[in-house]
Order: sequence, then structure tokens, then C-alpha cells
Amino acid sequence: MYYEGKTKIVKIVENHALIEFKDDITAGDGLKHDVMTNKGSICAETTAILMDYLSKKGIRTHLIEYVPPRTLKAVPLKMFPLEVVVRLKKAGSFVRRYGGVEGEDLPFPLVEFFIKDDERHDPMVCVDHLEILKIATKDQAEKMKETAVKATLALKEFFEKGGFELWDIKYEFGLDKNGEVVLGDEISPDTFRLRKKGEIFDKDVYRRDLGDPMKKYREVLELCRSLSLQ
Ligand code: TMP
Ligand code: ASP
Repeated sequence: MYYEGKTKIVKIVENHALIEFKDDITAGDGLKHDVMTNKGSICAETTAILMDYLSKKGIRTHLIEYVPPRTLKAVPLKMFPLEVVVRLKKAGSFVRRYGGVEGEDLPFPLVEFFIKDDERHDPMVCVDHLEILKIATKDQAEKMKETAVKATLALKEFFEKGGFELWDIKYEFGLDKNGEVVLGDEISPDTFRLRKKGEIFDKDVYRRDLGDPMKKYREVLELCRSLSLQ
């Protein structure tokens, strides 16, 4: 099996998956697109460090091992075509949709589901939609929600040790061969908003044309390397 997406290539080899991170960066459902040297290796290593941390916190991920420079060896998963977003603060599409001020606290972690469909601009859905559209059962949706919140609170704590604020984050889940819901895909500045004293350390630098995104991605990788040793 071979699958190529906007930023990754997945190959199934024997009984595991090899996920190769490309140097491509996109925004606006792929409308904005660039290639940035070393982006793939930076995001692959960042994902490996953060998933390794989550597994130590009791959260099952697809990661088996990091294969430098840009590949993850992983458990093969049948992916749900979903983005599961957890928000701790208001930002991005939350503010566009509901108003409010970027960076304002939410009273509890908000979980949102979006169907991955660029042509329809990733429509937001609720658990009933997932059941009616036969995308996931109520139990599977609940498991994704519970795991996503647990992972987010663990990552918030991780980044706080470096003085950084995790604002929001997107996860993707799949089913392993036993039908268990497992956290897959990636965790990198492409998939979260991370801030320190107003400074942006995530893909918003690219989305909003605020300078060299790779400088920030490299700083996040350095931060993850040093925090993972503590
Ligand atoms: P949003 O505010 O644009 O909905 O984004 C919420 C979080 O999800 C943010 O951390 C960025 C991340 N995200 C992705 O990883 N992929 C996407 O396609 C989008 C739209 C957001
Ligand atoms: N990942 C999305 C895209 O490539 C958008 C985003 O992250 O803002 O279009």
C-alpha cells in the first residue's frame, strides 16, 4: 500500500507502516503551498519526541520508532477521515466562527470534530453526524474525545516547563488490527498553536506570512529535545 498526502507519504511494509514526512508546507486547504528545506525531518523528530512522551503518560500512539531523518516506523492504522481539535484558548477558526479575542481562555478543553475534505473545507460535525455518516460509532468518538483531551493536558504540562502556552491542537486517530482506537498522524508546529509571551511558534507564522516558519519549527524541536531529557 502506498498513499501520498499533502505533507506525508505512507508505505505499508510487511506488518508496519513507514511514514515519510515531506518538506511541503500548505495552508488554506492546500491553496497556499511551499517547500521548505528540512521541514520533514524537523516535524518527524518533533512528532517522535512528543509521541514518546505521550506513551509514557499512558496514551497509546502509533509510534514504534523514529527512523532518521524524516521517517516514523509506526503501527498500521485504518484512519478515520477526521481532524479532532482540542482548544484550551480561543484562536483561529474558533474566533472566525464564534467571535472573541485570540488567546482568551476557554473554561474547559473544547473538542471539535472536522471531516477531512478539502473540497468542502473540512466541515465541522458532531458525534451524531459521525454515526449517521458511518464514520465512527459513538463509543469510538467518545474514545477519541477522551484520548485527545488527556493528550492535550499532558502536552500543555510538557510545554509549560519551557514557559510555552499550548493554545490548541489537532489529532488524527485510526483503528489497529484489533479494532482499538489509536492516536496516529503527527504532532508538530503544523498541528498545534504554541505561544510564548505573544511570540508565535507554529504554522500561523506561515498562514499569516509573519516571517521564516522554519526558524520557529527548529526552535520547537530544540525545546522538545531539551524538555524530553528533564
Ligand atoms: P483552526 O483554528 O484553524 O480550526 O485550527 C485548530 C488547530 O488545528 C490548530 O492548532 C491548527 C490545527 N490544524 C491542523 O492541524 N490542520 C488543519 O487543516 C487545520 C485547519 C488546523
Ligand atoms: N492543513 C491545511 C492545509 O494544508 C490548512 C491549515 O493547516 O491551515 O490546507
